[in-house]
Amino acid sequence: MARRALITGITGQDGSYLAEHLLREGYDVWGLVRGQANPRVTRVRRLLEDIRFVGGDLLDQGSLISAVEKVQPDEVYNLGAISFVPLSWEQAELTAEVTGMGVLRVLEAIRVCSGISSSRSPKSGQIRFYQASSSEMFGQVRESPQTERTPFHPRSPYGVAKTYGHFLTQNYRESYGMFAVSGILFNHESPRRGAEFVTRKVSLGVARIKLGLASELRLGNLDARRDWGYAGDYVRAMHLMVAADRPDDYVIGTGRTHSVRELVAAAFEAVGLDWERYVVFDQSLRRPAEVDLLCADPKEAKARLGWEPSVSFEDLVAMMVESDIALLSGKTLRSESDAEAVWP
Ligand code: NAP
Ligand code: GDD
Repeated sequence: MARRALITGITGQDGSYLAEHLLREGYDVWGLVRGQANPRVTRVRRLLEDIRFVGGDLLDQGSLISAVEKVQPDEVYNLGAISFVPLSWEQAELTAEVTGMGVLRVLEAIRVCSGISSSRSPKSGQIRFYQASSSEMFGQVRESPQTERTPFHPRSPYGVAKTYGHFLTQNYRESYGMFAVSGILFNHESPRRGAEFVTRKVSLGVARIKLGLASELRLGNLDARRDWGYAGDYVRAMHLMVAADRPDDYVIGTGRTHSVRELVAAAFEAVGLDWERYVVFDQSLRRPAEVDLLCADPKEAKARLGWEPSVSFEDLVAMMVESDIALLSGKTLRSESDAEAVWP
């Protein structure tokens, strides 16, 4: 029988790529969806007809228990979160509830539905759990590149909430013998990336300028450095971690780091424009506390999972710019929310 996966955050960037990957691997895929007539569900349904949906919200324990009971998954991937770092200062409590406590609620739903009541009573056929941890947990980095052993120093309410979820996942593994793993994923991007994140904001901005729909692009800190990879590669790593012989946590990234300035230069260069003529620094886009440098050391993932990224930074930027030019020239989208509503 096909293995069955339940994915929270199915309407997000990673949810769609993971669902695609698991469907290709022969899985029966279910997505947890929240709210009433969530318009982003239509977008996923259009792309992936074979997914089934179940209602539930990371804020609602009962709904998660019901979802796990109904779906009877072999694997649960917890990708749902408030994931935009600046929003986590504006709505810190909600971020703690969704991004942090949401992890506890999913783990509890699995524990209750699996009948694990005392410590260390793993069942054969137990539900495997993946937690979407983040390189934001490294924050003000103590060393570079960052490995599975680098200490955490989160710099945002989002990073703090992710750190809670990360340690809780380890704790459920140690307390109950659950097959629970965390992927410490560095930034990963794609044409399906939300328009609020810097890579997509830049690719949309470049496309608009190239097509004569805008004359400038306003950005914050150009000096921050990130290890940017392609989302399609990173969902493969999630699946490999869950399919491994024993549960463990892994750093997933490319091992190369670039500044936002280099990202901008590469994106404008892809359409033959000089970025310095169009980019305007906007102080209001700076963050209360910044993560200045992220760079992964993905050696463990390569050695133990056989995982490697396949798309370079340059190809990723070109892919995103090209996709947004096609999107905007076909549909003449002008706003971020229009662009968010459509996936290629
Ligand atoms: P994303 O595009 O922002 O998607 C977030 C998902 O969370 C959406 O499907 C959203 O669904 C769902 N969600 C929000 N609040 C919820 C709630 N109360 N209950 C249930 N679902 C809820 O994020 P992403 O880029 O795909 O990232 C996936 C996960 O990986 C996130 O946990 C993120 O923090 C983590 N991560 C991402 C990166 C990266 O670079 N992309 C790196 C490290 C870790 P709605 O449609 O209902 O809003
Ligand atoms: N979003 C945004 N918008 N970021 C900007 C801008 C701007 O106009 N100008 C400069 N930046 C800088 C930010 O200050 C940050 O240093 C960097 O660009 C990347 O910002 P984001 O793309 O918003 O991503 P992030 O690194 O904060 O967080 C993403 O990656 C994490 C993993 O490290 C998100 O996907 C998180 O959910 C994820 O955990």
